[in-house]
Amino acid sequence: MLRPVVAADGTVDLKGVEPARDRLWLEVGFGGGEHLAWQAEHHPDVTVIGAEPFLNGVASLLAHVDDSGLGNVRIIDGDVRPLLDALPPTSLERIFVLFPDPWPKARHHKRRIVNHWSANRFADLLVDGGELRLATDIMDYARWMMAAVWPHPDLTWTARRPGDWRSRTRDWPGTRYEAKAIEAGRTPVFLTFRRKARGTSQ
Ligand SMILES: C[S@@+](CC[C@H](N)C(=O)[O-])C[C@H]1O[C@@H](n2cnc3c(N)ncnc32)[C@H](O)[C@@H]1O
Repeated sequence: MLRPVVAADGTVDLKGVEPARDRLWLEVGFGGGEHLAWQAEHHPDVTVIGAEPFLNGVASLLAHVDDSGLGNVRIIDGDVRPLLDALPPTSLERIFVLFPDPWPKARHHKRRIVNHWSANRFADLLVDGGELRLATDIMDYARWMMAAVWPHPDLTWTARRPGDWRSRTRDWPGTRYEAKAIEAGRTPVFLTFRRKARGTSQ
């Protein structure tokens, strides 16, 4: 388990992982790492990259990695944005942004990690048919996410009925933050977007 590095010139060193060759998933702000570890354990043929500046979270993920003997996890102990800038297009199959910091005050909205800039980066980085999974328990942020991602011409919201955004699929385990939100009486929203095929309007 090694840490990817984004150099000053923008090149990424994923320590033996080749974005052009290997299957890569990314979790932005993995918190305690329980979701990332579950995905890595259940998908041994995928390398899961996690970015998280909160050191206790990194330590918690490392404990999961150790306990489960995971060899397919790469960690950035910091901001994900340099990685989003540095990865080549079509390098990721899935991106997870689960319960990002809500920044509820209007003057802090610009700090929200899901925004028009990241929606563009996600669309560029995902392979055709790749998935972007978002979750939040803050209704204002759910609306904000929809405003940032739903109009993107290359991303399609997969929901067909209300149940699709009110519950997780079976391959989407809950996180610590989600459990706290439910305990506090808030209802989470789960949003899945699919990357359209390039060169088509599908
Ligand atoms: C509310 S917590 C949710 C954690 C986890 N996803 C969960 O559901 O339990 C949001 C996390 O995003 C991390 N975070 C905030 N900004 C980030 C950034 N620019 N890059 C990566 N992680 C970030 C925070 O440190 C925090 O751990």
